[in-house]
Amino acid sequence: MIEAALTHLQAPFRMNGPEPRPSLPALGQLPLRLRTFRWLLSETWPQAKGKRLLDLGAGPGLFARIASRHGFSVTAVDARMPWTAADIEAGQSSAGSGPVFEDDEFLFIQKDLRDVDDLSGFDVIACIGVLYHLPFADQRDLLARCAARAMVIDTEIYDASRIPESEASRFRPATVAGGYSGAFCREQGQVYSSHGDALSFWFDQDSILRFFADAGCSRVTMVEPQYFSAFGPRRWFVLNG
Ligand SMILES: C[S@@+](CC[C@H](N)C(=O)[O-])C[C@H]1O[C@@H](n2cnc3c(N)ncnc32)[C@H](O)[C@@H]1O
Repeated sequence: MIEAALTHLQAPFRMNGPEPRPSLPALGQLPLRLRTFRWLLSETWPQAKGKRLLDLGAGPGLFARIASRHGFSVTAVDARMPWTAADIEAGQSSAGSGPVFEDDEFLFIQKDLRDVDDLSGFDVIACIGVLYHLPFADQRDLLARCAARAMVIDTEIYDASRIPESEASRFRPATVAGGYSGAFCREQGQVYSSHGDALSFWFDQDSILRFFADAGCSRVTMVEPQYFSAFGPRRWFVLNG
């Protein structure tokens, strides 16, 4: 195993918001997550003018907007058109501006993130709430392609003891190639879930750190403390190639 230098970055605010609700996982902890991203950007890239950020799995575009307001030139990619809270119940996005459009604050491209093949122009790749919606092999390919650049990741961490009983049947503990342990998760076909995959893979805490190191990241910054979604622990990471 290749070692990555691991540093811990302490959030200067409380990382536990209101009790997350399993019925609304996409919106659970949203204010806290937006605040954390805003803070992480100002800690990590105090001068963002002239830098380009790619937001993969951008969803409604709230994080893309924050990055743009921070000074980045932002491209947001999602397999679905930007959706709203109301679209969650309808099961599909109601936006209809075409597969590529200029929002007032960022460029949006409707595309599967696995088909974005040119990452060379971007200084930072954001994967916020999307890594754990991908199968293991696609997470590995994505990390391999991003390894030379900075990434901001916000992802679920598998902890069997924290999965609510009502959701337990969706998770199957597993160890995948490379010996990474975690669980397969049955995706649910919501606007906020996987695009076209029935099963995603959730790493446990130890495995995800080894996964980042094995992908070639030389430095991993782990934001402390972890916070909690309706499915257990979740964390922010900043990776450097
Ligand atoms: C949980 S939402 C997160 C949205 C946003 N980043 C946030 O945190 O609010 C996951 C998003 O990833 C998108 N997504 C899932 N699989 C994708 C894929 N293979 N390619 C592109 N987008 C994908 C979904 O359409 C959804 O908008």
